[in-house]
Amino acid sequence: SEQADLVIVGAGLFGLTIAQQAVERTGARVEIIEARGNIGGNAYSYMDEQTGAEIHKYGAHLFHTSNPRVWKYVNRFTSFTNYVHHVYTTHNGEVFPMPINLGTINQFFHASYTPEEARRLVAEQAGELAGSTPNNLNDQGISLIGRPLYEAFIKNYTAKQWQTDPSTLPASVIRRLPVRFNYNNRYFKDTWEGLPVDGYTAWFERMIDDPRIHVSLSTDFFDTSQPLNRDALVGKVPIVYTGPVDRYFDYKLGDLQWKTVEFKEKRYDEDDHLGCPVMNYADEDVPFTRAIEFKNFNPERHDRQNHEHTVVWEEYSRSASRNDEPYYPVSTAADKQLYAQYREKVAAEPQVIFGGRLGTYAYYDMHQVIDKALDSFENEVQPLLKK
Ligand code: FAD
Ligand code: NA
Repeated sequence: SEQADLVIVGAGLFGLTIAQQAVERTGARVEIIEARGNIGGNAYSYMDEQTGAEIHKYGAHLFHTSNPRVWKYVNRFTSFTNYVHHVYTTHNGEVFPMPINLGTINQFFHASYTPEEARRLVAEQAGELAGSTPNNLNDQGISLIGRPLYEAFIKNYTAKQWQTDPSTLPASVIRRLPVRFNYNNRYFKDTWEGLPVDGYTAWFERMIDDPRIHVSLSTDFFDTSQPLNRDALVGKVPIVYTGPVDRYFDYKLGDLQWKTVEFKEKRYDEDDHLGCPVMNYADEDVPFTRAIEFKNFNPERHDRQNHEHTVVWEEYSRSASRNDEPYYPVSTAADKQLYAQYREKVAAEPQVIFGGRLGTYAYYDMHQVIDKALDSFENEVQPLLKK
């Protein structure tokens, strides 16, 4: 570390992109400090020995982008399969395609509406609360897509995600509820999508495959019993910090709220348990929000997978405490105000660039975080590097 020109805290996609750019564009020597025992941040995955499934340890990760710069960049380190994401949902003993589309609507109403007829029906049902301003999530949902579809597909799923009755949640939680008036149930609308052919970890390893990049795993930046800590490094070397912004300042102004996710692993002596990679559960009687059958993300690996067993992860959502993994920023008005106050402290911190989803209290998909990192390198990090 004494010879490092740049220290990066966190080996997630933000930190890895900065490290890769620093070496390629300035020849810097980079030290990456990572609290976990592996690189990749929340996009990390590992191979399951029994089934040959690639398990996404922090929840299902699908790569998708319409950004040509990002697509070109990621293809330097991995190629992508032709996987196209689709999601189904179980409601009232039936399976429906998601997101809500003409197939969902016609199955739900046992009808054969044309796009125009369905559009008219949904507009009419959404008019139930016409003239009033929705002041909670329930009313907002009803005024966006009408009560029948909202109550079937959104209400209980959202209640499980938030562990709260939607009538007590602010309307702002849902700004849009996209309904497609055709049979397209391709989940993402992006130009490019796919999964890394050799898995996420191989992709990430290739990004930092350079002798000038050193990674210290299982090393916490706030642990003063090891040399690569905040107190020893800040002000002495440029730092890119991608951990939680409130943690960096010892939660001095208060805690930013996050949601976390817990997984319950199930194994079945079957080849295929769900018939798809992601099944949502829209009803209250199933306590988890969705189930993920990882094998089904990689049908091209058929010959390398075990067809007598499969592994499924059930996903439970709840609010995070300090010791939980922070997954999704809650971002209430109070959180936004608190984050703005932390930003003032960030601006005063010498030679520390805060980045990534934790460092900037934002939800970003992988392609967005790579894009942010490419910008941040050019605008914020490179000016701090002498070479
Ligand atoms: P992270 O990946 O969180 O990396 C931050 C790293 O910093 C972590 O490894 C952490 O251990 C480390 N760190 C934190 N504090 C310290 C410390 N004190 N000392 C040392 N190291 C520290 N994106 C998609 O594009 N498609 C998807 O389908 C998708 N699905 C998602 C599903 C879930 C459940 C979640 C939570 C996210 C999903 N994402 C998805 C988003 C994706 O995970 C993020 O875009 C990406 O991980 C962000 O990278 P990052 O580097 O900002 O943060
Ligand atoms: Na700063």
